Amino acid sequence: MQKVELLYLSQEDIMGLGIGWEEIIHRVELALIEQADKTIENPPKRGIHSRENAFIHEMPVYLKQMDACGIKWVSGYPDNREKGLPQILGLQIMNCPDTGVPLCIMDCRWITGVRTAAVTAVTVRHCAKADSRGIAIIGAGVQGKMHLRAIKHVMPSLEVCRVYDISPQAAKVYADTLGKELNMEVLPCSSVEEAVREVDIIFTATQKVSRPFIPTDALKPGMLGGGLEAGRAWPKELLHGADKVITDDLGQTSQYATTGAFEGGLPEFYGELGEIVKGKPGRENDEERILAFNIGIACEDISLGQYIYERARDKGAGIMLPLMEKEF
Ligand SMILES: NC(=O)c1ccc[n+]([C@@H]2O[C@H](COP(=O)([O-])OP(=O)(O)OC[C@H]3O[C@@H](n4cnc5c(N)ncnc54)[C@H](O)[C@@H]3O)[C@@H](O)[C@H]2O)c1
Repeated sequence: MQKVELLYLSQEDIMGLGIGWEEIIHRVELALIEQADKTIENPPKRGIHSRENAFIHEMPVYLKQMDACGIKWVSGYPDNREKGLPQILGLQIMNCPDTGVPLCIMDCRWITGVRTAAVTAVTVRHCAKADSRGIAIIGAGVQGKMHLRAIKHVMPSLEVCRVYDISPQAAKVYADTLGKELNMEVLPCSSVEEAVREVDIIFTATQKVSRPFIPTDALKPGMLGGGLEAGRAWPKELLHGADKVITDDLGQTSQYATTGAFEGGLPEFYGELGEIVKGKPGRENDEERILAFNIGIACEDISLGQYIYERARDKGAGIMLPLMEKEF
């Protein structure tokens, strides 16, 4: 029997690889294209729930064109911040598609942070008005930050970000940090209403909210909106009144409707993001009001995970761990 070892990559090992937004967006696009081509085996997420409002999800996938496979095991515990821990964290395993042998075990927090924002950046590229100048971010946590970085990367015309968080301190730190980092005006706001005024793009990145909080008149002609709470932040007037509603996975997003995630029931979806990446029109004029609810799918994580694994091997990053040596 051959000795088997696997590569272990911590969050810091991964961040040390210096992977940039264009590479991350490209890996996400490759995954979305495979999804549209139906060359992925990507069963719906299943989960366990050890505390109220919390989850641990399993997300396995095989991407045939890329010949990459693996699984993400990711948790969401909204009260973790009080314990000095992130809300979202976990692990990802990359397997050898020929033998099934685990090749690499890696942190999935950074991957989740950037790939989710990259999916939104792809959405912005295809569905936001060209030369958008103002954006509202509701929720100044990990995703709120990553979203502004990724969106500014694909929409350099952005000049102003208006941010609201239930924690005024979080909004202030966000404004100070990202304003300097991205060289743009970032204004902390004292209400959602104030934040969404006079912007071109609105994204919500809060928690599993119990009722919508976006004002019913917030989405004006020409605007793009979206959220990471499976539609929970958006009122039925907008969910069912927008010109186009898109998602990265119709099947999995539809399942959330059965848990009351979309006020007034599931909206009529125009299509999936992968179809738009492949050429189906996104925004077609400056008047359309478009909403996007990307649920997050395993192919996005494993596509990026494969790239990280290859880069880490090339650079000698991480540490090798023994898995097995002898027959028994
Ligand atoms: N779709 C996906 O692929 C995907 C991936 C990762 C995370 N998520 C979701 O994104 C959301 C944010 O995740 P995160 O990692 O940034 O969490 P986080 O804990 O880092 O940030 C959440 C922020 O939202 C704020 N907040 C909570 N309720 C609010 C409200 N009602 N109004 C304004 N601000 C509020 C919190 O104070 C916090 O600053 C979560 O719902 C998470 O489940 C989705």
